Amino acid sequence: MHNVRKVTADLTWLGASDNRLALFENVYPIPNGISYNSYLLNDEKTVLFDTVDSSVRRQFFENLRHTLNGKALDYVIIHHMEPDHCAELADLLRICPQVRIVCNMQTQKMIAQFFELGLPDERFMLVKEGDTLNTGTHTLNFVSAPMVHWPEVMMTYDSTDKVLFSADAFGTFGSLNGNIFADEVDFKRDYLDEARRYYTNIVGKYGPQVQNVLKKASALDIKTICPLHGFIWRNDLGYFIDKYNKWSAYEPEDKAVVIAYGSIYGNTYDAAAVLATKLAEQGIENIKMYDVSKTHASYIISEAFRVSTIVLAAPTYNGGIFVNMENFLHDLVAHNLQNRRFAIMDNGTWAVMSGKQMKDLLTTLKNCEFIEPQISLKSALKENQLAQTGELAAAIKAGL
Ligand code: FEO
Repeated sequence: MHNVRKVTADLTWLGASDNRLALFENVYPIPNGISYNSYLLNDEKTVLFDTVDSSVRRQFFENLRHTLNGKALDYVIIHHMEPDHCAELADLLRICPQVRIVCNMQTQKMIAQFFELGLPDERFMLVKEGDTLNTGTHTLNFVSAPMVHWPEVMMTYDSTDKVLFSADAFGTFGSLNGNIFADEVDFKRDYLDEARRYYTNIVGKYGPQVQNVLKKASALDIKTICPLHGFIWRNDLGYFIDKYNKWSAYEPEDKAVVIAYGSIYGNTYDAAAVLATKLAEQGIENIKMYDVSKTHASYIISEAFRVSTIVLAAPTYNGGIFVNMENFLHDLVAHNLQNRRFAIMDNGTWAVMSGKQMKDLLTTLKNCEFIEPQISLKSALKENQLAQTGELAAAIKAGL
């Protein structure tokens, strides 16, 4: 059965959610599912904005058939060639043989990489930054957005209704449950953490490119943002744009402390927990502790983007860093985090190596500092190290 909602008088959301997929991109846990958004503009010409992941194809084509209501589809605009949005392009072209593909040159090349369709040039309308498409009463303006989050990405701004089709930007993990607008849910309470986890893990590496797009967007009068995942924004856009500004500038949202620890038999955890107590005695609130062996790295990456101070505690393992901490740190470095303060606790029963190696990995991050003293354990925290642990807590507090 079709399942659509109006966004504006002329624009309809045709998306659908997948609640059965365990790992988005086969990496990121999505316990609350994910939505794939697609939109249809019903003007004198009809325009489809992206397709969907193949998991929701049946719903999508039913929605499209219903919304077209017998009209032909004139254009499909491809903002992003990742298969969670373009998987159904080949079937769409089969079902709508007259449709023209509106995209840039890089997208055209990627279409030929993903699908061997042998499309003649006249099936394409190639566009670039600043080009427009008039559909009758609407004017669509194309805005390039490279690396948000692939090189071919572009956005479309409908200057008639002041709608920005933002591709992956401003997306959120999580299914849509009837409510497709952010103002229909308690976004801050129920979805902000998942929006941050989505942004930081998927696009977080490309902060400067996101900043470029935000600069372009600030010159536009935007009333509605239609992303490819998650909620449509039509109220309080500044709240979410401000979050994107912070995340892409690698500025912490909260002056707060997260402790990420790895612990084989519990001794490193015990020491990290003593530090947490001393931090609390310093008056620090909302301390979060994450076991890197239990919590998927994507959640801790997201928390590292949220807070100003990150404590890393890990034992030595095979002469290096405890493997789950090492994997987490490689992931953190790959996401380009900057402007943070780190404190280090390490452990080892004979050669204590992990602290130096954790520091070596993190020194590649821009504008990050290490808080002294570093706490180094020989198997377990000792009575005579409590004062030093207190010193570290005080130094963390002093820099918050
Ligand atoms: Fe939602 Fe980069 O694809």
